Amino acid sequence: MIAKKIQIVEVGPRDGLQNEKEWVRTETKIALIEKLAEAGITKIETASFVSPKWVPQMRDAFEVLSGIERRPGVTYSVLTPNLKGFERALEAGTTEVAVFGAASEAFSQKNINCSISESVERFRPVVAAAQKNRIRVRGYISCVLGCPYQGEVPVDMVVNLAAQMSEMGCSEISLGDTIGIGTPMQAKNMMESVAEKVPLSNLALHFHDTRGQALANIYACLELGVSVIDASVSGLGGCPYAKGASGNVATEEVVYMLHGMGIETGIDLEKLIETGRFISDAFGRMPQSRVSSAL
Ligand code: HMG
Ligand code: MG
Repeated sequence: MIAKKIQIVEVGPRDGLQNEKEWVRTETKIALIEKLAEAGITKIETASFVSPKWVPQMRDAFEVLSGIERRPGVTYSVLTPNLKGFERALEAGTTEVAVFGAASEAFSQKNINCSISESVERFRPVVAAAQKNRIRVRGYISCVLGCPYQGEVPVDMVVNLAAQMSEMGCSEISLGDTIGIGTPMQAKNMMESVAEKVPLSNLALHFHDTRGQALANIYACLELGVSVIDASVSGLGGCPYAKGASGNVATEEVVYMLHGMGIETGIDLEKLIETGRFISDAFGRMPQSRVSSAL
């Protein structure tokens, strides 16, 4: 049942860097993305076309996306919350975009300044425009295992939003434990419920590691047959609109675990570790990955 091959979606340049307070130079962002591609990652979330007032660190999204030396076979995706963002992303040469909503009303308001139902109406024209341009759209759902503002999130909220995003044309739904609060059986049950409405092959895991549960939660969902996992090199990241959220699970940890289980990722772990060290050095920090520290 466990997939033999897993697609890693590297979200460090977006989810990771969006949370950095100090300005990260455009050249550093581009170098990070190019090194990740060299390490064998075939899907890299590179930036967000969001309001620069909301997330100042992403204000050079256009320069980053258009400045990357692209490698054949690699997809460079971006976040586009509305048509304005989508049009800029298209101009910068995007080939995959993501819209992002939440299963919690409180978080939706804080993160994208609208209710869940308003967000769905905002996504429709983005998805339609993307389809017209033959661009794949991923749909994110935040707070699938809990919310920093409202606490518990009923699983039905996750299932309903996933079904709506899927019906409108999102080809993949990434389920976000934004504040790393869930535990394995909860994660597995949530995935099973969503998989009743959206094919499991169209679901991805996006687990932050705030409480050290991410790998265990991923393993629990792998047993269901999930084959797409989001991760962030060196465990960079967090969401500026989720109080107390720390980074995503480190890509190094996920790749180490998967390779140890005989699962293919196409990633060169040594090069990935070097990339994690490159970005940690740029911030004058130690890499957050324990695999990196051990090796
Ligand atoms: P708003 O203020 O409601 O939007 O923000 P608005 O349409 O009223 O526009 C306000 C201003 O923003 C205007 O500028 C617009 O032009 C500008 P002004 O006239 O005041 O000068 N604007 C834009 N500028 C550039 N690009 C755009 C854009 N749209 C409007 N696309 C909006 C609504 C969604 C734009 C805002 O709330 C926003 O940018 N939010 C982004 C928040 C964000 O990026 N959060 C982090 C990413 S999500 C995440 O990390 C979770 C995830 O990892 C999964 C998980 O872990 O759970 C995905
Ligand atoms: Mg995230």
